[in-house]
Amino acid sequence: MASLSMGSFSIKWQRLLLLLTVLMLVKLETTALNSEGNALLSFKTSIVGSDGVFLNWQQEDSDPCGWKGVKCDSHAKSVIYLSLANHKLVGSIPPDIGQLNHLQLLALQANSLYGTIPRELGNCTELQYLYLQGNYLSGFIPPEFGNLVGLETLDLSSNTLSGFIPPSLDKLTKLMSFNVSMNFLTGAIPSDGALSNFNGTSFIGNRGLCGKQIEVECKDDNQSPSRDPQQPSSGNLVYRKPGKNSTRLVISAVATVGALLLVALMCFWGCFLYKKFGKSDVRCLGMDVSGGASIVMFHGDLPYSSKDILKKLETLDDENIIGSGGFGTVYKLAMDDGNVFALKRIMKTNEGLDRFFDRELEILGSIKHRYLVNLRGYCNSPSSKLLIYDYLPGGSLDEVLHERSELLDWEARLNIILGAAKGLAYLHHDCSPRIIHRDIKSSNILLDGNFEARVSDFGLAKLLEDEESHITTIVAGTFGYLAPEYMQSGRATEKTDVYSFGVLVLEVLSGKRPTDASFIEKGLNIVGWLNFLVAENRRREIIDPNCEGVQIDSLDALLSVAIQCVSSAPEDRPTMHRVVQMLESNVITPCPSDFYDSD
Ligand SMILES: Nc1ncnc2c1ncn2[C@@H]1O[C@H](COP(=O)(O)OP(=O)(O)O)[C@@H](O)[C@H]1O
Ligand SMILES: *[C@@H]1O[C@H](CO)[C@@H](O)[C@H](O)[C@H]1NC(C)=O
Ligand SMILES: *[C@@H]1O[C@H](CO)[C@@H](O)[C@H](O)[C@H]1NC(C)=O
Ligand SMILES: *[C@@H]1O[C@H](CO)[C@@H](O)[C@H](O)[C@H]1NC(C)=O
Ligand SMILES: [Mg+2]
Repeated sequence: MASLSMGSFSIKWQRLLLLLTVLMLVKLETTALNSEGNALLSFKTSIVGSDGVFLNWQQEDSDPCGWKGVKCDSHAKSVIYLSLANHKLVGSIPPDIGQLNHLQLLALQANSLYGTIPRELGNCTELQYLYLQGNYLSGFIPPEFGNLVGLETLDLSSNTLSGFIPPSLDKLTKLMSFNVSMNFLTGAIPSDGALSNFNGTSFIGNRGLCGKQIEVECKDDNQSPSRDPQQPSSGNLVYRKPGKNSTRLVISAVATVGALLLVALMCFWGCFLYKKFGKSDVRCLGMDVSGGASIVMFHGDLPYSSKDILKKLETLDDENIIGSGGFGTVYKLAMDDGNVFALKRIMKTNEGLDRFFDRELEILGSIKHRYLVNLRGYCNSPSSKLLIYDYLPGGSLDEVLHERSELLDWEARLNIILGAAKGLAYLHHDCSPRIIHRDIKSSNILLDGNFEARVSDFGLAKLLEDEESHITTIVAGTFGYLAPEYMQSGRATEKTDVYSFGVLVLEVLSGKRPTDASFIEKGLNIVGWLNFLVAENRRREIIDPNCEGVQIDSLDALLSVAIQCVSSAPEDRPTMHRVVQMLESNVITPCPSDFYDSD
């Protein structure tokens, strides 16, 4: 041993060790992290990913003043700056941030923060600069921000915030810079105080706002911000049928899911404009197809004349709506001969779309597979795009799994997973051109009458892509399914689909949505929860306790597939071909002698 052969060193080492031990003991006795330090540690805990910026944020320190990104007031040692912009932070902002009472600057911009902005931030009344732009923050702007009377800069741009701009912000008289651009905000912009000083450049990219700042007149009661925007977001859009005398379609947003609202508002404006300039009692769809519209059918897939279909389309109204999502509204289209189809109406029309639409749809229409939803035709009208699909009577996996889960026993769940895997594998490997789905989630797995899965909406995300596309998908409820590298780069690959598929498997196993509140509370999503359980060697606990007939062997095998699919490194994820192989050989048909009960 080195220390034995060099005696003098050995003694030095012993002394040093002794000294260190004494020092540590002293330290343990005399120091405990102060409360602001603890608040910051809880911030660190709720961030599940970063570029390593938290390395020197240590429990053992007496105060956080030397931590990276933290600056304290030199006398009182209270935290005045927290500056962590652009550090690849993934996670949510915990309410404990409100304990930093002397915070003057909070800079968390250009990260991947998600979840809501905690209203407790309104406690930090000494804040002067608040930068949260360039994240995935959702929910409402806390009305408590009205308490931040010293605020000079408030930048919330480029997030996915929804609801109204709280009138309390008008009290921020020191505000010199304000930006809520690129969100999904709606309603009237307050204009009785501080916010009246800002012009349109502070509000761009919020298609539901009105007010003098952006020179859009507020016409409707719905746009009044008097409604409490903080209502729980359980409700959806409520459509009221037009009254006898009124030709207006009133849309009342009880609470908003950003995309739903966007689509609804666009529909509202579409109708409104039409009502203003066109005939007076034709509904939205009639407008779509009257004048200039024609039906394109694939391969004799629709045994009707274009005229018959157009006539049928004109009769569709709100009562035929079966769902709506990020890309549009879906109607049930029942033909006179008893055949039923699903009509997807996409209001979004950007420049690029028209140019590629026909060609892309021609390709999508040519893709036929047992586990894919069949696209039979489309109608490219001037105001919207209408896609005609097979109607799947079982509805979406999302609905069945989260509303009628008792219908899905273990075998049914495995079968759905296998079907979805085969559909996706076909898109990735066997069809030409190969297709990255980009929007794998439970609401895009539809079920036929026998609970066989079919993958829907493949190719649509790409088709409807524009510079805001990543935001579009996130608002469409896809957030929990997105691979980490996709959130960073916005670039989709087959492996980002494999990740989403892995999340889907976890959703089917657990019966919980990927961003279920129970995960978010712990600062995790479903993948974080899985990783936690794996680390604790409790992985089987992820299974939905209400799922009947679970077989332990196939559960273990399926978990192993899911774990590989949600690897954070894309190269560690299997291909969909491999996934199908693993499912067929290890999960679906384990050797019969291996069967035993789950308890
Ligand atoms: N071909 C179809 N057959 C039956 N129901 C469908 C079909 N396509 C869509 N739906 C229903 O309409 C809803 C909305 O679909 P969509 O607009 O694709 O939004 P999302 O996929 O985001 O839920 C789906 O959740 C599903 O319930
Ligand atoms: C922080 O804010 C919340 C709600 O806004 C309030 O209930 C709480 O008392 C505040 N805490 C402190 C320490 O000020
Ligand atoms: C809008 O305000 C910004 C500063 O907030 C200013 O730079 C810009 O010139 C203004 N634009 C117009 C059109 O007034
Ligand atoms: C607000 O943010 C948007 C998007 O980043 C930007 O284009 C715009 O210029 C900003 N406006 C102001 C007033 O800074
Ligand atoms: Mg869909």
